[in-house]
Amino acid sequence: MSQLNDTYHLLFSTEKIAERVRHLGAEITREFDGKPLTVLVVLKGSFIFAADLIREIDLPLNVEFIGLRSYGDRVETSGVVQITMDVKHPLEGQHVLIVEDIVDTGLTLDYLIKNLSTRKPASVSVASLLYKPARAKVKVPVAYLGFEVPDKFVIGYGLDFAGKYRNIKEIGYLEPPPV
Ligand code: PRP
Repeated sequence: MSQLNDTYHLLFSTEKIAERVRHLGAEITREFDGKPLTVLVVLKGSFIFAADLIREIDLPLNVEFIGLRSYGDRVETSGVVQITMDVKHPLEGQHVLIVEDIVDTGLTLDYLIKNLSTRKPASVSVASLLYKPARAKVKVPVAYLGFEVPDKFVIGYGLDFAGKYRNIKEIGYLEPPPV
C-alpha cells in the first residue's frame, strides 16, 4: 500500500476481521435477546468497526456518537480524557453498548463508563475490537472483544497515527514505532 513503508507489519487481514465481527454481532444479538440497543460509537477510531458491527447485529437499535480524546498526536496517553462531542439524546433507561476500537491503558473507557453511569442507563456494556493487555492500567469490563494485540503501535481499520492510516483496510503495526 502506497502510504505504508517497510515499518508496517500485518496483524489481521480483512477476512479475519470480518469473520470476528460477524461472530461478535451474533453473540450480541443472542445475548440481548430482542432488547433494543443504543450503540454508542466512540469517535474517532471506532467508526469503521461500528459500521461493520451494527450490520451484524439483528436487533432494533439506534446509534449515538461521542467524541473522546486522550492521545492527541502523541504515542503515549496523556491520561486526561476530554469529551470533544457529546451524545445528542439522553441515555436514561437504555441498554447502551459502547463500541471502541482499542482498549490500551483502559483510562478512556474507565472514564466513559463512570460518566455514563451518572446518566442512568438500563445497562452499559462494551464491545472493543482490540485489547492491549501489556499496557492496562485499570481493569475495564469488555464483554465483546475482537482480538488481543501485542504491545505495538497498531494502525488501520479506523486506528490512526497522528490522524493518518485510518483508511487502511486491514490491521497492522508500525515497527519501529513512530516517534
Ligand atoms: C484511542 C482509542 C480509545 C483510546 C484507548 O483514542 O480510540 O478511545 O485511545 O486508549 P486508553 O485505553 O489508553 O485510554 P484516541 O485518543 O487515539 O482518539 P481517536 O479514537 O480519535 O484516534
